[in-house]
Amino acid sequence: MQILVLGGTVFLSRTVAEVARDAGHEVVCAARGVSGNPPDGVEFLRVDRDEAEGLAVLTGRDFDAVVDVEVQSPSRVRRALDALGPKAGHWTYVSSGSVYADNETTGQDAASGALVSAPPGGSDEADRELYGPFKVACEEAVRDAFGDKAFLCRAGLIVGPRDVSDRFGYWPARLAGGGEVLVPGTPDDLVQFVDVRDLAEWIVHCAENHVVGTFDAVAASQPWGKVIDAMAAAVGGPEVALTWVPGHWLAEQDVQPWAGPDSLPLWLPLPDYAGFMSRDVSASVEAGLTTRGTQETAIAALEWEKVLGLDRDRRSGITREREAALLTAWHASA
Ligand SMILES: NC(=O)c1ccc[n+]([C@@H]2O[C@H](COP(=O)([O-])OP(=O)(O)OC[C@H]3O[C@@H](n4cnc5c(N)ncnc54)[C@H](OP(=O)(O)O)[C@@H]3O)[C@@H](O)[C@H]2O)c1
Repeated sequence: MQILVLGGTVFLSRTVAEVARDAGHEVVCAARGVSGNPPDGVEFLRVDRDEAEGLAVLTGRDFDAVVDVEVQSPSRVRRALDALGPKAGHWTYVSSGSVYADNETTGQDAASGALVSAPPGGSDEADRELYGPFKVACEEAVRDAFGDKAFLCRAGLIVGPRDVSDRFGYWPARLAGGGEVLVPGTPDDLVQFVDVRDLAEWIVHCAENHVVGTFDAVAASQPWGKVIDAMAAAVGGPEVALTWVPGHWLAEQDVQPWAGPDSLPLWLPLPDYAGFMSRDVSASVEAGLTTRGTQETAIAALEWEKVLGLDRDRRSGITREREAALLTAWHASA
């Protein structure tokens, strides 16, 4: 197949290009080329999706499948659909679990989950506060243009090699350091994520097999205790000892959930976000999503952490000093 990846220079889109190439497809990556390089063995075309004629280099090209990972601009999505949609056989758009209106109810699936509203006309497409609403608008643009030929996959947390968000990687990196490790919440809290390689393989599988429809793109949820134990077994350093600290106490110490400076990744306030990481993905599994074990993901994520530098200033996570201070305060309070 001839597969066009709109992107291909950074994380998920680059992994899709690698997986498609390794499966024997002819892969074209189209991006500006400012964020990184495409993988070897693919054709690279320079495009700029912000320019009215920015996709001109693709004119006259036919593709069996197109994969679009546009973050949140319906204008960019529509421009690509106008230029390429009429002749493409299959269209993947990577959306997000942030489209859902109800983050609290557990066990929801893509077929039944109510969505947030698309933003009002005139909203700023670069406004990150409107990520979920703009994702809804991007999905609508794809459905309007491509109808039943579209595969929309709503990703949860994407993790693994080439992740530049510093979220999931905090845990393998921290566990590899050994010693007493502060872990937020309780072992029974559910967490849910997808290895970037599993998601990329599923996207290519769906293009190959003409799978269409709207699905959640995460592995089945797992108890947080099981995940952290698997990671510790795979990559844990000397004398790892987990200290579980309740979320409400961490919130009182101004530790941030999920992402960003002074945060503990994968941790979300409960019960408010109990539904965000406990989605029912049986339809996705039926549609071909397969997922590897946490140990394999942790090993790959640690390798990537080493490439980035274990001692770097992280975009997400807490410093070892902050962790030590929190552990001291927690033990004193207990
Ligand atoms: N990461 C997560 O945990 C997560 C969770 C849920 C959903 N998602 C969704 O997953 C998708 C994949 O995200 P990702 O970060 O993995 O993507 P990515 O692989 O980083 O791909 C983004 C691509 O877009 C290209 N690009 C950016 N601006 C462009 C422009 N003006 N013209 C042409 N190309 C441009 C970039 O290349 P150049 O900069 O070189 O042009 C890059 O190759 C996104 O839709 C995101 O919303 C991600």
